Amino acid sequence: MIKTIQFKNKAVRIIDQTKLPQKLVYKDCRLLRTLWLAIRRLEVRGAPALGAAAAFGVLMGTQDFKGEDRELFISSLNKVCDYLATSRPTAVNLFHSLEAMRMVPWLYPSASVTKLKDVIRKKAFEIYETDRAVCRAMGDHGARLIRNGDRLMTICNAGALATVDYGTALGVFYSAQKADKRFEVFACETRPLLQGARLTAWELTHARIATTLITDNMASVVMRDKGIRAVFTGADRIAANGDAANKIGTYGLAVLAKHHRIPFYVVAPRTTFDLAILKGNDIPIEERDPQEVRQLAGRPIAPKTVSVFNPAFDVTPHDLITAFVTERGIIKKPFNKTIKKIFS
Ligand code: MRU
Repeated sequence: MIKTIQFKNKAVRIIDQTKLPQKLVYKDCRLLRTLWLAIRRLEVRGAPALGAAAAFGVLMGTQDFKGEDRELFISSLNKVCDYLATSRPTAVNLFHSLEAMRMVPWLYPSASVTKLKDVIRKKAFEIYETDRAVCRAMGDHGARLIRNGDRLMTICNAGALATVDYGTALGVFYSAQKADKRFEVFACETRPLLQGARLTAWELTHARIATTLITDNMASVVMRDKGIRAVFTGADRIAANGDAANKIGTYGLAVLAKHHRIPFYVVAPRTTFDLAILKGNDIPIEERDPQEVRQLAGRPIAPKTVSVFNPAFDVTPHDLITAFVTERGIIKKPFNKTIKKIFS
């Protein structure tokens, strides 16, 4: 499996996803600023990958702290966390990792700075390893939902490139493939930044999964005329009631799926749930540079001054979601009860 993110020689090594599919380029982020920009520019992206990036970012930003002054160390740790928290607002995995790091001094109230640095290192690798295990568990649970001959649909990239190395929604496809199931995937290209075309189509074709790329506005016709049997997506933040934020266009797919009576599955680890947020309206939605819409792959396609609305995510209301696939299994309705259960 491809390694989307690693910690090597005091640097956070990422695949620069803005270069895909033309080139597979690894980039070493040695400065916090470089990592922050890599997150902001979507060189590394996808909710679980952002969780790992934040954890490794804190490791990188604290390991060279000199001296044994605990108070100074805590203040430097908090500064690093505050800074990384400003990179992107929607994927809660990033904030959960930062929170876990901020907690370290509280959990070890009398530990030396050397010990705190050691715990932070262990915690960062634990977050990384947990993601690997959790994605495989979700994949195996979700694969049960796939039958031989299925035609499936997905949006954005919820694959190895969006996690440490396996994927959430695409992880379900990888596990189904391992279980020798035959199926095809229709991948929505995902305007404006084309994660579906550039990343999902690249990943799935490399994995030898039968893949057909469509533009986003073909989804309705494909659902109706090609016999789509289920939609699988990832998520960036899921509220306590099951409303789920994911890449812009996901809500539209869920509405279409309901119209065509197609099951709509959201595949996400527990780190993507935010129980402090009760409903989808309260999920912060990132708005990005208008140029991303005025241009296509860097080329202008619209008048330079036309006004643009560019939300990076939308929220799918829970009633349009058939089930969640998590590392704890397949979570069915009523979500306000069943979601709580997977945290108990
Ligand atoms: O803007 P992006 O590319 O970070 O958006 C990513 C998505 O919307 C993914 O579907 C989501 O993070 C789930 S990833 C397993």
